[in-house]
Amino acid sequence: MKRIAVLTSGGDCSGMNAAIRAVVRTGLSNNVEVVGIQKGYQGLIDRQYELLTTKSVSSKLQVGGTFLQSARCLAMLEEPGRRLATENLKEMEIEGLVVIGGDGSHRGALELQKRGIRVIAIPASIDNDIPFTDMSLGVDTALNNIIHAVDNLKDTASSHDRTFVVETMGRNCGYLALVAGIACGAEYALIPESRYDLNDICEHLQKRFQEGRDNSIIMVAEGAGKAQDIADQIKDRVGFETRIMVLGHYQRGGSPSSFDRLLAARFGVTAVETLLRGESGKMLGLSCGTISQTDLEKVTQGGRRDIDETLLRLASTLGI
Ligand code: F6P
Repeated sequence: MKRIAVLTSGGDCSGMNAAIRAVVRTGLSNNVEVVGIQKGYQGLIDRQYELLTTKSVSSKLQVGGTFLQSARCLAMLEEPGRRLATENLKEMEIEGLVVIGGDGSHRGALELQKRGIRVIAIPASIDNDIPFTDMSLGVDTALNNIIHAVDNLKDTASSHDRTFVVETMGRNCGYLALVAGIACGAEYALIPESRYDLNDICEHLQKRFQEGRDNSIIMVAEGAGKAQDIADQIKDRVGFETRIMVLGHYQRGGSPSSFDRLLAARFGVTAVETLLRGESGKMLGLSCGTISQTDLEKVTQGGRRDIDETLLRLASTLGI
């Protein structure tokens, strides 16, 4: 194998640059050229790429986002786009491709694999909704972002006896809201995976303030509702001063945590070494501390990753 490529696709996350760096350094140390495809699959179709060197990835490890940039590429959902992407890779004499991204990216990776391109996928999305991996790249850093914001929020909530409803990202997965709720000592974590009753919530909030507590935090995953709607309903039912914080894309940036840097290094090195062994058509994962491999066919049919029952039980025991 003389030349491989790497791209980042879908929603960006912290750790992507660290993963790209690991791919580049592992490729070059094995005398393999590494081509960086810019702007995800769209760049592959538009032939936007650059030859990467160790200098290209120098001082990038600690930077959030992806210096190759990313995009959501509708053309990859159709045959003409998939064919053009495949042809471009073959014309560039790319013998292996590392795709770093979320579930949509892995479906694109499978289509390229089916057309003769050797692909290894790395799970990267703050949502942690990708099946067959305990953690995706970017999740830990996103959680640290949320926790920092909620800890700050508690200061002002306590100063005014306020209830705050905090909306996290996650698409249809409640992992970020649930784990941040546990880590921040929130009263509730409203997630799409579980039902909740706003009457019960309001009764509990009233009891808390009657007992003299000076703040309440309610986490809500974007897939379970809008913070403003929930705040309005609380205000209407119990008249509390309720404010909201919608964290949005703030969760996706920032310098990657040590966990994400190590995971990125492990994923990036393993991806290249797997290609060099002649294996492909797989997504890497973290499974009980070790790096696993799962067929892309299985990953793309696996649906959303379910939240561990142990986490749900832990939250319930802690009264969330
Ligand atoms: O999939 C990652 C994610 O951040 C989701 O949590 C969020 O709903 C979505 O991307 C936002 O997409 P965009 O960056 O295109 O607005």
